[in-house]
Amino acid sequence: MEQADLVILGAGAAGLFCAGSALAAGRRVVVLDHAPKPAEKIRISGGGRCNFTNMATGPDRFLSGNPRFAASALSRYAPQDFVDLVDRAGIAWHEKTQGQLFCDGKATQITDLLLGRMRGAELRLETAIASVERTADGFHIRTGQGAIRTPRLVVATGGKSIPKIGATGLAYDLARQFGLRLVEPRPALVPLTFAEQDLALCRPLSGVAVDARIGHRGGLFRDALLFTHRGLSGPVILQISSFWQPGEVLTIDLAPDLDIAARLKDQRARSGRAQVATVLAQMLPERLAQAIAAEAGLGQARLADQPNARLEALGARINRWQLRPVGTEGYRTAEVTLGGVDTRDLDARTMQARKVPGLSFIGECVDVTGWLGGYNFQWAWASADAAGRAA
Ligand code: FDA
Repeated sequence: MEQADLVILGAGAAGLFCAGSALAAGRRVVVLDHAPKPAEKIRISGGGRCNFTNMATGPDRFLSGNPRFAASALSRYAPQDFVDLVDRAGIAWHEKTQGQLFCDGKATQITDLLLGRMRGAELRLETAIASVERTADGFHIRTGQGAIRTPRLVVATGGKSIPKIGATGLAYDLARQFGLRLVEPRPALVPLTFAEQDLALCRPLSGVAVDARIGHRGGLFRDALLFTHRGLSGPVILQISSFWQPGEVLTIDLAPDLDIAARLKDQRARSGRAQVATVLAQMLPERLAQAIAAEAGLGQARLADQPNARLEALGARINRWQLRPVGTEGYRTAEVTLGGVDTRDLDARTMQARKVPGLSFIGECVDVTGWLGGYNFQWAWASADAAGRAA
């Protein structure tokens, strides 16, 4: 039967990177994936330009049952290490905002870099994994194209997000099979959905973007909020979706730099004849200002006619908008899967299962989930490098 030093399940960001790191140590490496092409998520990442790292990476940028777990791998493989690879490959890049590095050109340049780095390893696509069993000397993997034995197995099959391009729960099934604990997976970095009464406001505003701030369960983000016909999206909503739990109310500040009630009172004293909606439109996108004024029954109203209590209510509606999402758009559009293989059952230096020598889990299937902004790829590179070097 065929034998390899290392078999990696999953030819995504983490699997390909792990293959390259393991090769450097002179191993015979085989990478298996059921998809027809490698790294489909890299191709669609960052709007097609791949936000391949974030220079502000640190353990505080990740959600995990044990936030310190990621520190070891992240400190041994830093964002600058990946930037050096990108530079050596001649890939042009730019910093968009907040340390987020994107390719100037296509995201597939990153896939090409990874494939070049693992040249010498064997990549087998369209290979379904039928079963994985533990044997006296390692693992026996049965695939649609025959069986393979290996003393070392790395599981890099990612999370459940975007099943349309090949995501499955294989990593979680294998973790369970080998007795590792799981932190219940759920969609994250995902648009939120709302009840009909909230959609009545969101739908007509579809396409409007506003700078917003949301704090929830220890997460605090300020970025663009986008109204959509299904609810709310945009980076600030994706970020907070990772912290939000079903049933909870979110409080959104639609004008983070302004005390709206105070501004309205000030304007009332100076130009009371002005319409409420007109004054609001100096502080918010015009369509949003009109919708909020209309919702409050103040579509045509003048500032001078409004008592303090009404302006304060309007201010609260904008600076402390409270609403309860009914759910998320789910794995269909989620950028990542929160939860996964419990870090208590993995060695932080090697990513190996504590109780199953030779078996490692890397990348998104581990209970380490980054904020939006390049952190998830940096985790993929760092965890893959840790496992690859240890193999
Ligand atoms: P990944 O999902 O990349 O790879 C898993 C591989 O395993 C796939 O090739 C899959 O086909 C294979 N596989 C799955 N099940 C299998 C099975 N049963 N049998 C065989 N093979 C199987 N992050 C970031 O840092 N910057 C960004 O710009 C973006 N942008 C972005 C956009 C969109 C639309 C999405 C959906 C996600 C992002 N992300 C991101 C997140 C990022 O893509 C993600 O965190 C990494 O790809 C995770 O890498 P992994 O290698 O762990 O899984």
